Amino acid sequence: MNKPVILTGLRANNDLHIGNYFGALLPIIDLAKNRSAEFQVNLFVPDLHSFTTPIDHTALQASIMNNLKTYVAAGLPLDNPSVYIYRQSYIPAHSELTVILDSFTGMGEMSRMTQFKDKSAGLNDERISVGLFNYPVLMAADILLYGAQYVPVGEDQTQHLEFARDIAERLNNRFGELFIVPKPVKQQHSFFGKDQGLRIKDLSDPLKKMSKSDETGKGVVFMSDSSDTATKKIMSATTDSIGVINYDKDNQPGVSNLLELLALVSNESLEDVLSRYKGQASYGPLKTELSQKISELLGSFQAAYQEVDDELLMRKLQADEHEMSVQAGQTLLRVQKAVGLRS
Ligand code: ADP
Ligand code: TRP
Repeated sequence: MNKPVILTGLRANNDLHIGNYFGALLPIIDLAKNRSAEFQVNLFVPDLHSFTTPIDHTALQASIMNNLKTYVAAGLPLDNPSVYIYRQSYIPAHSELTVILDSFTGMGEMSRMTQFKDKSAGLNDERISVGLFNYPVLMAADILLYGAQYVPVGEDQTQHLEFARDIAERLNNRFGELFIVPKPVKQQHSFFGKDQGLRIKDLSDPLKKMSKSDETGKGVVFMSDSSDTATKKIMSATTDSIGVINYDKDNQPGVSNLLELLALVSNESLEDVLSRYKGQASYGPLKTELSQKISELLGSFQAAYQEVDDELLMRKLQADEHEMSVQAGQTLLRVQKAVGLRS
């Protein structure tokens, strides 16, 4: 329990896409593979977060299992005792700590959260759930229960990470050293390197991020897409009429996104990709190379997915949920004592 903890979760409300894969999954899996001697690695499914916006509940179970299998297919080692996988709702301390933290959280700070503003925009108040409003508090509980110091997430989640730091410091100031405060976001970025704070854009609308909540899915490459589907989406990606390849996010957001993706998928630096493409007068070759590389990635990912041993996965899941309940329970008890709920 004394190794520093690295933790992240990916919501199970749809198939995961290449933004989730490069932004959240790969960074933590790299660590799980290479640095588990120094760190405890927690990769969980925040299943209670899945329906903060409406979903088809009949599909939730399958979606949760799909996420877990995706972790394994993406390379998460199951035989490593420093790596833990679990489902949030199987560890009641997450819900209990959330209710306690709620009373130390301001309505104002929650209302200012960008994700809340984005996801509630245009909805009538009665249709915006308190669960969506409260989302960052549950996320803070997810992090603080295990004393996680490093939390690899995409750029859209950094505000929530800042909130987890704020609430930890707030309670520590009031009640003494209750929580390990996650590292400042800047330090996390330098720790995780280029993949942290990444924001892959939607292929058909490069002004917004690629998101599984997108209704059409036209600009989203899912990890389960066939090579043909992915290629179609990439070949018809929105670019611009400038007609020369430049990495210029303001004026050429579509092309810049394709360049970034190519660097990620081919494991090259952006500079190397640019040295091949900058100044070219046609977008076709860039799209073609990207389609090929993404198809290869999806092909090997999907083959690995088929190979996942369900039984082994379930056994590991249940053992880890048991052990994580013990770890989380210790933090919860410390908090319960501090606020006067336990003697
Ligand atoms: P989505 O918006 O697709 O529903 P989530 O909010 O569930 O994705 O995010 C899961 C993880 O993937 C988070 O760490 C998030 O920051 C990361 N992520 C999501 N979309 C992207 C993206 N387009 N680029 C990079 N990382 C992303
Ligand atoms: N909010 C994260 C997302 O949308 C998922 C998540 C829930 C999470 N709890 C977490 C990520 C704790 C990191 C740590 O992607």
